[in-house]
Amino acid sequence: MTKEIIESALMNVTYPGFTKDIVGFGFVKDINIAGSVVTVTIDITSSAPEVAQQIKDEATVELKKVGVTNATVSVNAPKMPRESSSKGKNIAPHVKNFIMVSSGKGGVGKSTTSVNLAIALAMQGQKVGLLDADIYGPNIPRMMGLEGVKPEIEGNKVLPLKAYGVEVMSMGSLMEDGQSLIWRGSMIMKAIEQFLRDILWSELDCLVIDMPPGTGDAQLTLAQSVPVTIGLTVTTPQMVALDDSRRSLDMFKKLNIPLGGIIENMSGFIAPDTGVEYDIFGRGTTEPVAKEFGTKILSEIPIEPSIRTGGDTGKPIVYFAPESETAKRYMKAAEELWAQVVEINEDGGVDNDAIQPTTPPGVSACSTGGASTTAAASTSTQSSGGSCGCS
Ligand SMILES: Nc1ncnc2c1ncn2[C@@H]1O[C@H](COP(=O)(O)OP(=O)(O)O)[C@@H](O)[C@H]1O
Ligand SMILES: [Mg+2]
Repeated sequence: MTKEIIESALMNVTYPGFTKDIVGFGFVKDINIAGSVVTVTIDITSSAPEVAQQIKDEATVELKKVGVTNATVSVNAPKMPRESSSKGKNIAPHVKNFIMVSSGKGGVGKSTTSVNLAIALAMQGQKVGLLDADIYGPNIPRMMGLEGVKPEIEGNKVLPLKAYGVEVMSMGSLMEDGQSLIWRGSMIMKAIEQFLRDILWSELDCLVIDMPPGTGDAQLTLAQSVPVTIGLTVTTPQMVALDDSRRSLDMFKKLNIPLGGIIENMSGFIAPDTGVEYDIFGRGTTEPVAKEFGTKILSEIPIEPSIRTGGDTGKPIVYFAPESETAKRYMKAAEELWAQVVEINEDGGVDNDAIQPTTPPGVSACSTGGASTTAAASTSTQSSGGSCGCS
């Protein structure tokens, strides 16, 4: 019996919910052969007991097939997270946690981050949905390899698509290719509400939401519609990008959304040929901003050509190159993010009561300039007041 035989046998064990095997994901940590006794150690990232059991059973069967009669398969899993304890208005109550991914400006890697974190969370055993709420630039379908795939309609509800273990829905999947819309404030609010109300998401542990860039109606509407568990800001290290991410962090504070940290994207460059890391956009610029807002840098993601090609071809790096440095950083960021979500829930969860619209009865919120809470007044940079024509 050789290690190679054992390994190729284990390649027949797919990770539950995915099409990829446990060897490919790098979960097989140790293979020990002592005479006829084979001991295999598998570290999984999922805390669901049924995942561990299924892997153990299938691995034992596969090892038998290649002649191992005396196999010990131990599967190590992290402990089960607590359920959400959030309160307040929630128009999507079957979703336990909402993770809002925001950025001050476009093009900094918000969608790339959302995609890879969502898949990483799913690989770690969470039931994950990914909502592409970036109505101005819905790129998630392409990045998830779902371009042109139309969702099924059930009654008057829409079934989410599924890719890489994640449920996905995007405005892009509902629009014709290349079609553009001009969004008014009130339309944005309606669209966000519909995404939450009219999509048949499963019972999800979390919904990762790729927001439009900036701090406007979409952010406010989302925060008022569901209790957002945690907010992430994606930035690049240049000063000009950081100025905008300050606004994004400030918005989270005003909306009472706990800060999960900053993802510093395009932080350095890893040369594909040598693996050497170079500094391109500057370094050390994000740290003071994180400190200023009492949060931290959740991860530094380098510029890696395979991140871009992965995005363009619908083959996300965490899934297709789990051994790469960048994939490992996404996995670690997802772990730390989830630890924070668990902690927030253990501390009593979040509540969005304080940011509900305070429009007097009989007056439309739209006709008074968006929801006129203090949060709205100071965070909304795009005014919806008067222009929506729904009074
Ligand atoms: N770390 C990275 N390395 C290489 N390319 C990246 C990286 N992050 C993002 N990109 C690429 O940059 C472009 C913009 O990223 P995207 O996630 O679409 O930004 P946003 O959603 O903020 O507009 C995409 O083509 C994406 O593939
Ligand atoms: Mg985007």
